[in-house]
Amino acid sequence: MYQSFMDTTRSIISLILFLLLTIPAGAQRTSKESTPTTTDFTFRGFNGSQPANISIEGAATIKPNGLLRLTDRNPNVIGTAFYNKPVRLLETNISSTNTTVRSFSTSFVFVIIPSSSSNGGYGFTFTLSPTPNRPGAETEQFLGLLNKNNDGNSTNHVFAVEFDTVQGFKDGAYSSGNHIGLNFNSLKSDFQEPVVYYDNDGPNRKEDFWLQSGDPIRALLDYDGPTQTLNFTVYPAKSKSRPIKPLISQLPVPKLSEIVQEEMFVGFTAATGRDQSSAHYVMGWSFSSGGENPLAATLDLSEIPPPPPNKPKKRGYNGKVIALIVALSTVISIMLVLLLLFLIYRKRMQQEEILEDWEIDHPHRFRYRDLYKATDGFKENRIVGTGGFGTVYRGNIRTSSDQIAVKKITPNSMQGVREFVAEIESLGRLRHKNLVNLQGWCKHKNDLLLIYEYIPNGSLDSLLYSKPRRSGEVLTWKARFQIAKGIASGLLYLHEEWEQIVIHRDVKPSNVLIESDMNPRLGDFGLARLYERGSQSRTTVVVGTIGYMAPELARNGNSSSASDVFAFGVLLLEIVSGRKPTDSGTFFIADWVMELEESGEILSAIDPRLGSGYEEGEVRLALAVGLLCCHQKPGSRPSMRMVLRYLNRDEDVPEIHDNWGYSDSSRIDLGSKLVGYVSSDRASSSHSHTSLSLTRISSTSFTSGR
Ligand SMILES: *[C@@H]1O[C@H](CO)[C@@H](O)[C@H](O)[C@H]1NC(C)=O
Ligand SMILES: *[C@@H]1O[C@H](CO)[C@@H](O)[C@H](O)[C@H]1NC(C)=O
Ligand SMILES: *[C@@H]1O[C@H](CO)[C@@H](O)[C@H](O)[C@H]1NC(C)=O
Ligand SMILES: *[C@@H]1O[C@H](CO)[C@@H](O)[C@H](O)[C@H]1NC(C)=O
Ligand SMILES: *[C@@H]1O[C@H](CO)[C@@H](O)[C@H](O)[C@H]1NC(C)=O
Ligand SMILES: *[C@@H]1O[C@H](CO)[C@@H](O)[C@H](O)[C@H]1NC(C)=O
Repeated sequence: MYQSFMDTTRSIISLILFLLLTIPAGAQRTSKESTPTTTDFTFRGFNGSQPANISIEGAATIKPNGLLRLTDRNPNVIGTAFYNKPVRLLETNISSTNTTVRSFSTSFVFVIIPSSSSNGGYGFTFTLSPTPNRPGAETEQFLGLLNKNNDGNSTNHVFAVEFDTVQGFKDGAYSSGNHIGLNFNSLKSDFQEPVVYYDNDGPNRKEDFWLQSGDPIRALLDYDGPTQTLNFTVYPAKSKSRPIKPLISQLPVPKLSEIVQEEMFVGFTAATGRDQSSAHYVMGWSFSSGGENPLAATLDLSEIPPPPPNKPKKRGYNGKVIALIVALSTVISIMLVLLLLFLIYRKRMQQEEILEDWEIDHPHRFRYRDLYKATDGFKENRIVGTGGFGTVYRGNIRTSSDQIAVKKITPNSMQGVREFVAEIESLGRLRHKNLVNLQGWCKHKNDLLLIYEYIPNGSLDSLLYSKPRRSGEVLTWKARFQIAKGIASGLLYLHEEWEQIVIHRDVKPSNVLIESDMNPRLGDFGLARLYERGSQSRTTVVVGTIGYMAPELARNGNSSSASDVFAFGVLLLEIVSGRKPTDSGTFFIADWVMELEESGEILSAIDPRLGSGYEEGEVRLALAVGLLCCHQKPGSRPSMRMVLRYLNRDEDVPEIHDNWGYSDSSRIDLGSKLVGYVSSDRASSSHSHTSLSLTRISSTSFTSGR
């Protein structure tokens, strides 16, 4: 009995406990599931509303400043934002089983910023949807609401107010880009209006404005359940007061009752297109439903976040980034302009010259720009020879037949240039048929340019050595003799016939150019002076070419007409024998000819390639004159006038009665402090023109090597 009582008590306690534990839980659950009959919310900015109150998808985002951005200006994006909790929008009349859509009211402020004024798109919607997102919705004209398969299907249960900014893409070709539409399950609007508002100044004064103006715009939607009508107003948020009349007033929308389900989600969708895109922002949003006359809270502009900067800039960069980009691009453009100016300046400087005072009044000065043009900017294919102090370019000045040779010299120092130029000025007046006449000069930076007549045939050097070897053709004796006399005549002019004595200083085959009629022309006269001048006065400087340098040059370095005569003598022997003056440390052409002379075999000195094609008397004469010119003692050498007289047989060559002062010990005797600028010819050269190299050699290599 007691037991059963206890059991009963226990059961009752258990039941009570069970009821205590389960009923509240169950009650809690049902109350959680049931949607409140009224919904009221106000977002003055969307700070902290996500994820608790707002569910966003796609490109939509809540900006740090509280703005809800549905899409940015990227192409082909969708953004949706819905109030998280469902809203009860159907009212069932218990007494008649008749259902009606409840009254509701919403208000929001939005901004549309197009990527450029003509390229905004596509728009956004305020939507009643059965789901808090729009799965499968598409971009462009589908506005992130529907897609081409479900567009128009009555199972959609979607009502939307569209804010369309793209013209004529749907709703027929008549629609303006800037319009409002009321859409039921479809993007084809049942009703649409261009965007205007009724100004307060008069009942029918319409003002139109642009949805994508970039300025805040306020939209108000009120639905009246009992009369199944709606009012819609849209106007620039900056207006002082609300328009006196809605854009859409008391429009019957019975269709809404077919769409609205028990619970609906309210929110926004937006989309951009491939070519047209805008950023769509909602700045604030209020909603109210249920009750007698629901009225969404007003959103004062001062209470909601400020609109995004209204700049039709790309991709919604913020101000700082834009400022940075502007600053950077300004800096970069300035730098580019400076660089361009610098390049132009440098290009000009390459052609322009800065003249020193002394340079101005010289009749023979050429303008660098003209030379630059004449030689195609000193192109490599214009080079006709290298060596003998510089590189020679062929150039056409004025007409193409008017050819010049431009010798570009880079002296070791410009010290002596001024004096040298003074000399050039006078050398420019030299005129002789056996001289390559100097026409002018030009100084440019560290280069000195000398302008000569252009002699196309090449040098004696190439005729003596290179050319015959290649074509099998040998320079005839007649030509050789004529050339020898021509050179002698040119030298005579330099030494005696002009107003002042000009020492050539570098007589050698590569400085003799040959015209087509075998007339020789001596070039590069006086040039060696530049190198004598340019160097420090403390060291003795010898300028010339090994093999052609008179022995006294090694002792005192003083060039004279006698040292020119020595070089001519070597050249004469070379012309006859076709042999380089030196080909090793021990051979010297004058020694060799002298030995042959002493052994009575002078004729074996003749160039074997001539065969029997020579005139013995002339050969003997030339060799005798050559030896005479190569006399060790400068005073014993004949003058050029005498040389020419001998060669013309106007006078007999003196008998050879000693060995012309030759002794091995005296010949190569160079002072230890001697520094020489020596251009050397190489016998092995196969170049058609000169193969000179300007070398600065010390006395040790001078004595030991060459
Ligand atoms: C957002 O959600 C929070 C928490 O659920 C709530 O306290 C707040 O009132 C909601 N805000 C709005 C505007 O609905
Ligand atoms: C419900 O229906 C009855 C009769 O049809 C009507 O008198 C009453 O006003 C209705 N109530 C509402 C809230 O619509
Ligand atoms: C439902 O109520 C509306 C008025 O509120 C009325 O016009 C309509 O005929 C009713 N429908 C039914 C099925 O009772
Ligand atoms: C409408 O959609 C439903 C389901 O989503 C589908 O079964 C039906 O075929 C669609 N109707 C049309 C006309 O596309
Ligand atoms: C709709 O606007 C008219 C004036 O045009 C006004 O009389 C009516 O009350 C409004 N309805 C609602 C639901 O706001
Ligand atoms: C909220 O929004 C305001 C602008 O309305 C902004 O100044 C503030 O920084 C935001 N606060 C947070 C916590 O996001």
